Amino acid sequence: MSRLVYLLNGPNLNLLGKRQPAIYGHETLADVEADCRRLAGELGLELRFHQSNREYELIDWIHESRETAGALIMNPGAFTHTSIAILDALNTCDFPVIEVHISNVHKREEFRRHSYVSLRADGVIAGFGTQGYQLALRRAATLIDAAS
Ligand code: DQA
Repeated sequence: MSRLVYLLNGPNLNLLGKRQPAIYGHETLADVEADCRRLAGELGLELRFHQSNREYELIDWIHESRETAGALIMNPGAFTHTSIAILDALNTCDFPVIEVHISNVHKREEFRRHSYVSLRADGVIAGFGTQGYQLALRRAATLIDAAS
């Protein structure tokens, strides 16, 4: 089983730290990436960390992951609630998929309660702030270890 994990972030997450800090916190995406790289090293995982505001680019990375990855973690941002194309791409992957949301999407507007990505995700982490990414990485390591 590959120990390569893709961690994909969708639209507006490049503004993490500046964007609605009362909801998303003060950590930047660069802080999140640094924390995740440190933890991935400890867990013996290789990490590909990407962010894009473009749906097609996220889909291209999902396609790329199909060839090599052992797991994929994704915070699809608002595409969570709109993108059948991202769901279709994830449905072509045969490794664990973990959906992450920094905020508790169930405590917010009604439209955030529906996730297309959840129709494929093996697990969902929401509401634990940026720590959710690290929880997802630990889970990815557990699932990869179990399959190896
Ligand atoms: C988010 C929640 C989404 O509803 C929102 O559109 C985002 C971020 C989160 O991490 O809490 O952009 O995915």
